[in-house]
Amino acid sequence: MMASEGADTVILDTMGLEISSVTDSDGGKLPFEMGTAKEGMGAPLTITMGDKRQIVVAYKSGPDAAALQWLVPEQTAGGKHPYLLSQGQPTLNRTWIPTQDSPGIRQTWEAKITAPEPLTVVMSGLSGGEPASAAEGSRTFSFLMDKPVAPYLIAIAAGDIVFKELGPRSGVWTEPVMLDKAAAELADTEKMIDAAEELYGEYRWGRYDMIVLPPSFPYGGMENPVMTFLTPTFIAGDRSLTGLVAHELAHSWSGNLVTNANWSDSWLNEGTTSYFENRIIEKLYGTKRASQERALNFASMEDTIAEKGSDSAITALHLTGEEAGPDGGTSGVIYDKGASFLHTVESIVGREKFDIWLESWFDRHAFQPATSAMFLADMRKNLVKGDKELEAKLMLDEWVYKPGLPSNVLRPDPDAFAEVDKAATAYGASRTLDKAAWSEWTSAERLRLLSKLPTELPDEELAKLDGDLGLAASENNEILFAWLELTLQNRYEPAVPLTEKFLATVGRRKFVAPLFEALMEQGDWGKTIAKRIYAKTRDSYHAVTRAGVDRIVKAD
Ligand code: BES
Ligand code: ZN
Repeated sequence: MMASEGADTVILDTMGLEISSVTDSDGGKLPFEMGTAKEGMGAPLTITMGDKRQIVVAYKSGPDAAALQWLVPEQTAGGKHPYLLSQGQPTLNRTWIPTQDSPGIRQTWEAKITAPEPLTVVMSGLSGGEPASAAEGSRTFSFLMDKPVAPYLIAIAAGDIVFKELGPRSGVWTEPVMLDKAAAELADTEKMIDAAEELYGEYRWGRYDMIVLPPSFPYGGMENPVMTFLTPTFIAGDRSLTGLVAHELAHSWSGNLVTNANWSDSWLNEGTTSYFENRIIEKLYGTKRASQERALNFASMEDTIAEKGSDSAITALHLTGEEAGPDGGTSGVIYDKGASFLHTVESIVGREKFDIWLESWFDRHAFQPATSAMFLADMRKNLVKGDKELEAKLMLDEWVYKPGLPSNVLRPDPDAFAEVDKAATAYGASRTLDKAAWSEWTSAERLRLLSKLPTELPDEELAKLDGDLGLAASENNEILFAWLELTLQNRYEPAVPLTEKFLATVGRRKFVAPLFEALMEQGDWGKTIAKRIYAKTRDSYHAVTRAGVDRIVKAD
């Protein structure tokens, strides 16, 4: 952490921590004071350290620490052992680690974690090798992150997990019964790392391992350094949802190497990563899949902009005012608008020049925090280089600081979904779909079709769609989710048991929150179902998902 010269106090973030003592490296007591807690932010811990430069804080985290989810055996695939997982981004790590919990801070760290057998511990740092045996059938695992990282990237998981190698520098951890499926879905990982390096330079973190967690993990993925955390819901059996892996891997450059200094610039992490993700997908799977995924995301971004209003602050990349809090980035359009910005710049300056510049940006700012202003200044200095005509064409400030979409936006290939869109239009009139065509379509094409169906469908048509296309039985969770959402919006009773089963196992907020929302929008019919299901499932969700759903279900 940073210690300014001459500083005699240090202030750490804490939330719900019970501090028992603070000492210096010789065991001498240091005075400390816990300040007033702020809603959702916790309380500052001020330590008077004098001229000491090493302090030891002895503390306990609370049983309700929001970063941590303690799973009972029934919530795991094996069903026999408990499990622990953490989620730090954006400001949750202060619930289990007293630290300067800002993305503009950098720290190296070391950890020794003791867990009862047979649990194995992984963290977002390099493993110190075989665990040492400790008291009462426990083992102590050690970890080291020797590169300075932002504190939100410290993560831990523990469970009955095993490892399988995927390539010379990559592998996957997961529960034994999940191992083969997870490894098969992730078989392209090493190729993804190679593709990413060809695009934007050396992978600087040594190993790239992943852990496929139980389904209660609240996100699709989290880019914890050297140990990406993944939901099992990306496993579709055909690698069609591995854009998630490309995304988390890309964060090894955009996010973990160069980090948004403030959450109001989350787009620097997420938008740049979404662009990078698409470039990896293009390199690995070709332009068809890449342009379809872009078109799908672009359409959903346009829907969100239309819904929020193209003058709403939440549709700007750099977030201001009320939107600038730690959570701002998750509800807005920063992912796909950020990616669109970079696709647009790429198309104007040319891919070759753009790639050279982006690689050099990562290099110049490696292991440092960055802001929107720095990003634009660097682009002007090293890419635009005073070319007035180019500067005018790019509309840089409008992209970053204004809401809505600038007029120079590069739209996705209109032909990306030509066939599917034709089928969707035809369905509107004939109410039939060509089963054979559907079976040939990619995951993105199927999702596009579902998004283009009439929003109001009678029960018979929903039943026919399900019968023809096997939607309720889909192994692709994105498709299953889209189907469930469509059925709930139509008060389709036969899909309620499946919805209930889905919501009882999956805790990924992106799926869970919209399904509860769809139910709550359906008057008494849906509200009764939502409340009944949530009463049973709430305790099984991570605090992130619980907070999201509380706003939807409890607010009523
Ligand atoms: N870093 C994010 C997850 C995140 C964002 C956590 C904001 C907390 C606050 C991660 O890289 C991410 O974007 N995950 C996405 C997947 C991606 C393919 C869009 C997700 O979880 O859905
Ligand atoms: Zn991300």
